[in-house]
Amino acid sequence: MKLFIMIFFSSKQVSVDSNVILPDPPDGKIHERTFVLRDDPTAFFIHTKSGAVCFREGTDMTASASHRRLLQHRRKISPKDEAINADKKVLQCPCREGWHGPHCGIPTIVYHSNLPSKSKATPRKVPRRVINAININHEFDLLHARFHELGDIVDVFLVCESNFTAYGDSRPLLFRQLILNGTFDYIKHKILYVFLDHFPDGGHADGWIADDYLRTYLTKNGMSRLEGFKADDVFVINDADEIPARGGILFLKLYDGWSEPVGIHMRKSLYGFYWRQFGTLDVLSACTAAMLFKVYRGDGIYLRRRSYYSMSGFREYENSTGRILVPWAIGSPIHYAGWHCSWCFKPEGIYYKLISAQNGDFPRWGDYSEKRKISYIKALIRTGGWFDGSAPDYPPSDPKEHMYAPKYLLDNYEKYRYLLENPYATEKH
Ligand SMILES: *[C@@H]1O[C@H](CO)[C@@H](O)[C@H](O)[C@H]1NC(C)=O
Ligand SMILES: *[C@@H]1O[C@H](CO)[C@@H](O)[C@H](O)[C@H]1NC(C)=O
Ligand SMILES: *[C@@H]1O[C@H](CO)[C@@H](O)[C@H](O)[C@H]1NC(C)=O
Repeated sequence: MKLFIMIFFSSKQVSVDSNVILPDPPDGKIHERTFVLRDDPTAFFIHTKSGAVCFREGTDMTASASHRRLLQHRRKISPKDEAINADKKVLQCPCREGWHGPHCGIPTIVYHSNLPSKSKATPRKVPRRVINAININHEFDLLHARFHELGDIVDVFLVCESNFTAYGDSRPLLFRQLILNGTFDYIKHKILYVFLDHFPDGGHADGWIADDYLRTYLTKNGMSRLEGFKADDVFVINDADEIPARGGILFLKLYDGWSEPVGIHMRKSLYGFYWRQFGTLDVLSACTAAMLFKVYRGDGIYLRRRSYYSMSGFREYENSTGRILVPWAIGSPIHYAGWHCSWCFKPEGIYYKLISAQNGDFPRWGDYSEKRKISYIKALIRTGGWFDGSAPDYPPSDPKEHMYAPKYLLDNYEKYRYLLENPYATEKH
């Protein structure tokens, strides 16, 4: 017998993005604009005729294939799962590869994470809104990669640019120019531009003050200009060179039942994706808006510092959620849930990063004229060496490997070849 799965979409209309696009203020003051957050009307889940609720992207929806895989799937269910399913009378959806759970909405990077409650995660009726906050200097290729990776599921990007470098020198507002000249028109309706127009007191003497202040200002100014955010919205703060994989952020958006704060295990590499480093970088990067304000005092720097349990509001907040909050991380030491690509620029970009670097992360290589030479920088890129003269060991890597680089860069290989293959590997020296 052929099993037909009738698919009808949720009653909500799939409409064009409903976030309000305000006209540019006449004087170009894009840093004074506000942004109205609205619920995402996308129908992420479908309801099958048999009554199952299936995540559209993660479900194999061709009817005959569904039938076959549904049977295979049933056979594979362990007694323990069966007990859970009998309990809740959850109807199974046939999952595509890479997706798990009764609704096929749990990506592999969450399935293999240390989230204790993942078997209890349930799809939400209305998705959370996702706010992604970053500071930008000149990481524009990685910024395009971020916007393409996350653009359809992030509701607003808070992007902060300063007219001071982290060192305290003046710098042009490059990102602002690119927004105004049309470079980011494909995503402009989701960008809230934050302008940091001053350098913090003490930032010259102690560069870490300048570094932290960027995150503080980004969060405070950005969040204060959002209208209509809710306690259960998701706040994700990254450095410009940290790009979360889409699946993990989508899980936070679509599911209830996860704990916080949330880290992300990122693949680490230097100069490009080809000098992959051992292990992962696990940075606490996400929490709800409620936790951001009740525990972290509306300041994203505290989220990244892992100091949630010593913050004065933590116990009260934890109590208010009615559960025990344990930090967890999307991905695992062997399942990358994002990319941290350090110093991933052409040589000129590395030069610019050297001279802009804050005054506190010593030694400050930008202070040494021989280390600023383009020929020296090219040699570092070629060998994967570091400014201190060391040449680390790298595990092998291959552009074809899983999670090698964000999809957008791989899809535009020629344009971004310099990040995907060692540009100087064949040069004689
Ligand atoms: C940055 O912008 C502010 C506001 O326009 C201005 O007062 C300040 O002088 C600028 N600083 C630099 C270093 O350009
Ligand atoms: C915008 O400006 C950048 C930098 O000057 C330039 O590379 C780019 O081609 C410009 N884009 C458009 C659409 O004018
Ligand atoms: C915890 O929450 C309960 C009600 O949810 C409240 O009665 C109690 O006072 C709270 N305890 C603390 C320490 O906040």
